[in-house]
Amino acid sequence: MTLPRMPTGIPGLDEILHGGLIPDSTYLIVGCTGAGKTILSLQWLLDGLRRGEPGLFITLAEPPETVARNVSGFGWNLEGLAILDLSPGQSLPAETGDEYRIFPPSEVEQTPTWQTIYDTITRLQPRRVVIDSVTQLRYLSTDEYQFRKHILHLVNFLNRQRCTTLLTFEPLVLQQETSVALAADGVLQLHAEISAGRVITLRSLSVEKLRGSDFLSGRHPMRITGDGIRLFPHRIETPPDTLPNGERLPFGVAQLDDLMGGGLETHTTTIISGPSGVGKTTLGLQFLLTAAQHGKRAILYTFEESSASILTRARQLGLPVEAPLNAGNLQLVHINPLQLYPDELLHHIRRAVEGEGRQVVMLDSLRGYALAMEQFGLLTAHLQNIVTYLNSRGAITLLVNEIEHLTGELRITELGVSYLVDNLLLLRFAEYSGQVIRVIACLKKRLGSFQPELRRFDIGAGGIQIGEPLSTLRGVLTGVPEHENPPHA
Ligand SMILES: Nc1ncnc2c1ncn2[C@@H]1O[C@H](COP(=O)(O)OP(=O)(O)OP(=O)(O)O)[C@@H](O)[C@H]1O
Ligand SMILES: [Mg+2]
Repeated sequence: MTLPRMPTGIPGLDEILHGGLIPDSTYLIVGCTGAGKTILSLQWLLDGLRRGEPGLFITLAEPPETVARNVSGFGWNLEGLAILDLSPGQSLPAETGDEYRIFPPSEVEQTPTWQTIYDTITRLQPRRVVIDSVTQLRYLSTDEYQFRKHILHLVNFLNRQRCTTLLTFEPLVLQQETSVALAADGVLQLHAEISAGRVITLRSLSVEKLRGSDFLSGRHPMRITGDGIRLFPHRIETPPDTLPNGERLPFGVAQLDDLMGGGLETHTTTIISGPSGVGKTTLGLQFLLTAAQHGKRAILYTFEESSASILTRARQLGLPVEAPLNAGNLQLVHINPLQLYPDELLHHIRRAVEGEGRQVVMLDSLRGYALAMEQFGLLTAHLQNIVTYLNSRGAITLLVNEIEHLTGELRITELGVSYLVDNLLLLRFAEYSGQVIRVIACLKKRLGSFQPELRRFDIGAGGIQIGEPLSTLRGVLTGVPEHENPPHA
């Protein structure tokens, strides 16, 4: 039996929770100060209001005015929300003599707070309740045993009242009060750490437990944006058992298409590998433009060079970028990898493919994208996920890979990703008769044939020109070729 779900209204979270929270249950939202507990809780309560589910926000640390001010930046208005103010300095309702008699003197101080919580919930009958934060309630109890009793009683009461509840908690307190985690139906942990390499705050969410349901495990990147919290679920893509026969699209440069057995097929991924400045982006862009001329929609994600710089160069080379740009068949998106989360890129790509019908996707370059991996795993793992997704969707994927060495020892990539791809195109510089020349070769093509030749190529006005095979030279891939039969002096 699958349990009913309550959508959270927090983009990405329902996918992580396999549909949402389970109603009439209690969840802990655990995180250090500034991790986003209050924002997440309020976003969920406000979503409830939109669905006609009355909400109650019980604030124990900040007065309601502060809470309202802190979320006004998101354009949120808390007016429809019931707020119970139990923040310090707030005078509590007068006690009756009876209550003083029930509790021993050590508990007298706390009685009004707990009682006010029970009374308010009974009176308002909310469907969604937040207590922010339960850490403050801990300070009202004299010892752990008493606190545990109070919390277990509260959780039982809330669930009987058919409330779905978020209790916010500080991680340290939770470590000391493990019984609270046991009593809760789920624990969501918010993380905010300064990255050592990029020196920015990296936010993420993990589900530690979700009673009665499976969930997406792992660390899901989280952003606090101008609209509130958004999550980028770390979802592992599964490859399909069979791929349909692909369609082949040309580069639109005759000799290059000869070399590549006619072009690149749908459902495949190609690495264009080479040193800085050799022409990787231009070669990829050439393919994207031809694809656009064939009515395909293409997108280029650039991590290093700006879109403007790529377009300026393309115009100087006479590549016809205007028409596809204006028609929307070509889009360039510059993403700063210093601020990117790996799963966020896949989120963008999914939107481009499923939302905008993009069928040709280029990432330029993997080195830039590799910067986004910090604390989120390996480049190969994330790239495999992207490639699996795009191949299964029938896209043609181009990955630009920069290699450090201009000449010398041959390496296809320094990132260990070539096993992932179907096609490998290598661009090299070589020294020849006192000149630096460019050389291109196809080293691997999974579907169909290719010509295993090394060819000279040039980039100039008119775009890419491919020369004749360098058949009289050997050692071209070392960068310092020699004539096979040295000409006699
Ligand atoms: N408009 C915004 N854009 C981006 N980040 C924001 C915005 N507004 C607030 N933040 C970030 O949200 C964080 C505060 O979130 P929140 O108040 O929900 O944390 P909390 O976990 O409740 O903290 P505490 O335990 O101190 O109550 C801050 O780090 C702040 O930088
Ligand atoms: Mg808070």
